[in-house]
Amino acid sequence: MCGIVGYVGHREAYPVIVKGLKRLEYRGYDSAGIALMNKGLTVYKKKGKVSDLEGFIKEEQLKSHIGIGHTRWATHGEPNDVNAHPHFSASGKLAMIHNGIIENYSSVKQDLLNKGYQFKSETDSEVLINFVEDIKNKSQCSLEEAVRLALTQIVGAYAIVIMSEDEPNKLVAARKGSPLVIGVGKDEFFLASDATPIVEYTNEVVYLNDFEIAVIEDNKLDIRNTQDIPTTPYIQTLDMELESIEKGGYEHFMLKEIFEQPKSVSDSLRGRLNAAKGHLVLGGIREYANTLVNADRIIIVACGTSWHAGLVAEYIFEEYCRIPVEVEYASEFRYRNPIIREGDVVIAISQSGETADTLAALELAKSKGAIILGVVNTVGSSIARITDEGAYIHAGPEIGVASTKAFTGQVTVLTMIALRIAFRKGTLSKTKYHELLVELETIPGKIQKALELNDQIKYIASIYKDAKNCLYLGRGYNFPVALEGALKLKEISYIHAEGYPAAEMKHGPIALIDEEMPVVVIATHDSSYEKIVSNVQEVKARKGQVIAVVTEGDQLMPKMADHIIEVPATHEALMPLISVIPLQLLSYHIAVMRGCNVDQPRNLAKSVTVE
Ligand code: AGP
Ligand code: GLU
Repeated sequence: MCGIVGYVGHREAYPVIVKGLKRLEYRGYDSAGIALMNKGLTVYKKKGKVSDLEGFIKEEQLKSHIGIGHTRWATHGEPNDVNAHPHFSASGKLAMIHNGIIENYSSVKQDLLNKGYQFKSETDSEVLINFVEDIKNKSQCSLEEAVRLALTQIVGAYAIVIMSEDEPNKLVAARKGSPLVIGVGKDEFFLASDATPIVEYTNEVVYLNDFEIAVIEDNKLDIRNTQDIPTTPYIQTLDMELESIEKGGYEHFMLKEIFEQPKSVSDSLRGRLNAAKGHLVLGGIREYANTLVNADRIIIVACGTSWHAGLVAEYIFEEYCRIPVEVEYASEFRYRNPIIREGDVVIAISQSGETADTLAALELAKSKGAIILGVVNTVGSSIARITDEGAYIHAGPEIGVASTKAFTGQVTVLTMIALRIAFRKGTLSKTKYHELLVELETIPGKIQKALELNDQIKYIASIYKDAKNCLYLGRGYNFPVALEGALKLKEISYIHAEGYPAAEMKHGPIALIDEEMPVVVIATHDSSYEKIVSNVQEVKARKGQVIAVVTEGDQLMPKMADHIIEVPATHEALMPLISVIPLQLLSYHIAVMRGCNVDQPRNLAKSVTVE
């Protein structure tokens, strides 16, 4: 993961880089470091967060119009000062920041050790910068040529930016697998892992492609690929507001993002759904709509929360489109020689659009002749760019590491795709189609109502904040919601939590239930309601504490459960969009009450660009 930032231009580089690193801290926060050009090439780096680094550098050392910075999520070597980036080459003349993994680093390192190189850190990154220096010295070539030659021999993923003491106005950057965006300002250039550090200075950006090397010097941007063939930079205009990446009065990004959902879901629907006219248009999948209608099966690949959104989609696609759906963990799919037939449709779901496993799964599917589609949030991201077609969820930047509004956005878009395909295929009647479209349009308002339960949920959180374990149960469409609720709780509050299909409980997890065990049951009024009522009785018979998410007006559940959270009624296929809201709030409040870092939970990073 890691976040990287670079700057060269007329401003002081330091404030631009530090501010940028803070925006990218969601990508990793094990250590931070910065390289500047003042009386030579200087590196300042430190274990901990960007704010720890700030206090450590003296004011007078900061004057420089060029610089690079890094916020790390360690893959090779523990988080400490020495392993922090930037890394110097042996001569101290080159400094590099790196996001990714150099897979063949140990053989390269061995060759360099044989030549007498010594290494200070345990990172794969330090190996790469020394490899570049070795080639440069041996071939007596330019820095960019040495980078090019080195990268032709490197296996793995990288976004790198290099500074050189001998060429104090030059930045050399390259990418493969990890993202890199170049902001093009007036007489200045910005480099970053995503556009958030750039947006307040310029909205003109170039997304570097895999195997491209960018050289920035004398106000010029030169991009060529690793075969040394120049390409014309494609400058795009960013459509991102500065406010969307700030907290806007909320204590945490996660809370802001939870509360943004009425708007973000409306944004997903906007321009696509007009229930009164019976219109549902998804421009992004127009060309492959027929392929979907005729597909023998659909494979969904994703990780984490996005995988849960995929499970919801499985229910809706199978029910309404009558197309078999397999929902795969991208990491498993890519390594198990999956059967993919020409014409199969593979849909990737990803908030960041940069998740390495999902990206690799797509590449594999594409190489075997599948049509690949994307349901992605981050505009211009790698997944958005390699897919044949796709639909953005338009949820706006999601910065809290725990995904919230991206989940509801993904489910909204997948629901629209499924309904559109089902109607076109004729597996969904016109009346039912219209009924579902009308209901879909009411969802943002119903999410708003669910958010009004915040105080009540905060109270419930105060009762269970010290729990050691927690079980989440749901059936049908609410089963993936149970998984999502459990993931939210464990990732931000560090309470062990498991999600289960409620009926599976009796096959094992029921052994865990005692008076200490909170059990969150999603028991809204749907086709499995009566079954889940029996499951709640099974929990109560063993003295478990039941927190039930139910449909407004439920008469039965209040008699059985310890706490009731009433959400507005909707069609059962759309209920995950509403029933997930109290679970997001519950995990948020519990984490805050336990003193956890909600937006940047330990060991995690927002965008997992390593395997
Ligand atoms: C969710 O809260 C997670 N932090 C994580 O599981 C995430 O959903 C997963 O890493 C997938 O990310 P993506 O959607 O950006 O591909
Ligand atoms: N592999 C490098 C390190 O451990 C970069 C890590 C990353 O991008 O996640 O320092």
